[in-house]
Amino acid sequence: MDLAKLEVVNVSKTLERLHTLDNVSIELREREFVVILGPSGCGKSTLLNIIAGLIKPDQGGVCIDGEDWSGRTARVSYMQQKDLLLPWKNILDNVSIPLLLKGVNKNQARDTARHYLQDFGLQDFAAYYPRQLSGGMRQRAALLRTYLFASDILLLDEPFAALDAITRHKMQIWLKDLRKRYQPSILFVTHDIGEALQLADRIYVLSARPAYIKLEIDLAATSTRDEKERLRERILTLLEEEAEIR
Ligand SMILES: Nc1ncnc2c1ncn2[C@@H]1O[C@H](COP(=O)(O)OP(=O)(O)O)[C@@H](O)[C@H]1O
Ligand SMILES: [Mg+2]
Repeated sequence: MDLAKLEVVNVSKTLERLHTLDNVSIELREREFVVILGPSGCGKSTLLNIIAGLIKPDQGGVCIDGEDWSGRTARVSYMQQKDLLLPWKNILDNVSIPLLLKGVNKNQARDTARHYLQDFGLQDFAAYYPRQLSGGMRQRAALLRTYLFASDILLLDEPFAALDAITRHKMQIWLKDLRKRYQPSILFVTHDIGEALQLADRIYVLSARPAYIKLEIDLAATSTRDEKERLRERILTLLEEEAEIR
């Protein structure tokens, strides 16, 4: 669990004169589950876009397996906050896209995708188009598509935000199971402190914009309910302070 899989080193970014990220450095170790928590608008999605190579940092860089990946795409499985399902393709074909990109033939890609739709409770909606589904269903389809991209690094941007409590719980169990089976390294953005404490090995708390690392918490030593409750209150206080600054 010790090798650095992914490193963000001193990244700063200004978007249209809005100073968004201020010298952010984070590390994701092999097989680790790291959560990024921060107030809304602070730059969490911008940070993931930089890691995925979709935008370039003004300063600093992104290293994966010791190699510079700044501004280069297609290395990580990335579920963006906006689901980005293609409106003209049905759910089965949307979910098949990463398999087609890998050169799997269409029928085989559809068979594989159909198999997984079951796991995600979407089996009855294969022929539906994104606009015909609820936000939670679209989110699950987007998560499945991300998963089928099959990189050893997963970036998930508030993947469960649109889900009801029961479905969210199911998807959290699915994610824990995925970790056991495939041991990917996961960087997970959420604004839900409870979810962060439940899933993470480590948490980075970001400040309000321009975001910098306000606090890093290693949960390895935190196992009791009381300890988690104290941490929850500490993080909440921090985030409330950040909200007051703006
Ligand atoms: N492409 C862009 N161009 C200009 N401003 C942007 C762009 N993307 C995001 N922003 C702005 O940068 C800030 C950070 O956005 P974002 O990374 O989406 O925050 P978060 O994910 O933490 O809510 C926001 O104030 C947003 O309005
Ligand atoms: Mg965001």
